[in-house]
Amino acid sequence: MFPIHRNRRLRTNESIRSLVRETILTPNDFMFPMFIAEGNNVEVPIPSMPGIYRRSIDLTVKEVKELWNLGIKAVNIYVKVGDHLKDNEGKEAWNPDGLMQQAIKAIKDAVPEMIVMPDVALDPYSVYGHDGIIKNGDIANDETVEALVKMAVSHAEAGADFVAPSDMMDGRVLRLREGLDSAGYQNVGIMSYAAKYASSFYGPFRDALDSAPKETGVVVPKDKKTYQMDYANRTEAIREALHDVEEGADIVMVKPGLAYLDIVREVKNAVTVPVAVYNVSGEYAMVKAAAEKGWIENDKVILEQLHSIKRAGADIISTYFAKEAAILLNK
Ligand code: PBG
Repeated sequence: MFPIHRNRRLRTNESIRSLVRETILTPNDFMFPMFIAEGNNVEVPIPSMPGIYRRSIDLTVKEVKELWNLGIKAVNIYVKVGDHLKDNEGKEAWNPDGLMQQAIKAIKDAVPEMIVMPDVALDPYSVYGHDGIIKNGDIANDETVEALVKMAVSHAEAGADFVAPSDMMDGRVLRLREGLDSAGYQNVGIMSYAAKYASSFYGPFRDALDSAPKETGVVVPKDKKTYQMDYANRTEAIREALHDVEEGADIVMVKPGLAYLDIVREVKNAVTVPVAVYNVSGEYAMVKAAAEKGWIENDKVILEQLHSIKRAGADIISTYFAKEAAILLNK
């Protein structure tokens, strides 16, 4: 008998294909990253991310309502504050009336069930564009962690459901857990960016927030390679994830997504907490640029990529495609 196996039987038509489909993507899988701007009625397009905007809180709230109605249950929020609010310690990061804190409150007031996960890292508040405090030309790990604790507690006070440290300092998950608990926020969760690589795929995000490491005349590391991971490494990602779980992370994240799906699978196999994947700004920009040129089909590529990320082991996907994909999936 030839062929012995007729695998094509299970692909005969869409009915049988849907019956045997292994990965089902839904809008519930997504978190939507949002950039917040100061002011009112402000909507600034991000040139390297067509379709993505930096919006003031009022317009952000409007957008969050739409996301909720599409079935999206979580947002990651990032702020762009004025240069006059930046310093080396990032003190604005824990201002109870800061832009982030106001945004958290406004979103939770408008859509109480939406999970709000603010980013915990100093870069939007750092004069140097670094995720940590600079001391003697280097990032001071432990001082930075203490600043992050103040920041996270202020997010919890504002109503955040989760905090999402994206800084890659050592020991921060443990100190954040202790800090949140002792301030009475035992139920505020931690989604740690556990395996975050020093990646060139973050370029458009840094444009959006104007947060790239800057030339200031002061000697600081020129890139983030002393805290974000070397993209040549695999075992290190598992180690980072296990450490964060041990320190109390409720969810661990791998970042970026597409070029790191091997890591996603390995981390998924190594931990028992949910794994999130950040489909980052550069990944978004590449699809949009190629689709604009008519070289790939936007909608089909989006869904294929998001399925691939889920198939690799993602329980949650943070993606700039969330809204578009939710609309496609709801059709
Ligand atoms: C910084 C932060 C970055 C991103 C999320 N948080 C950039 C960086 O590390 O420089 C990138 C996300 C993206 O590219 O979409 N704490």
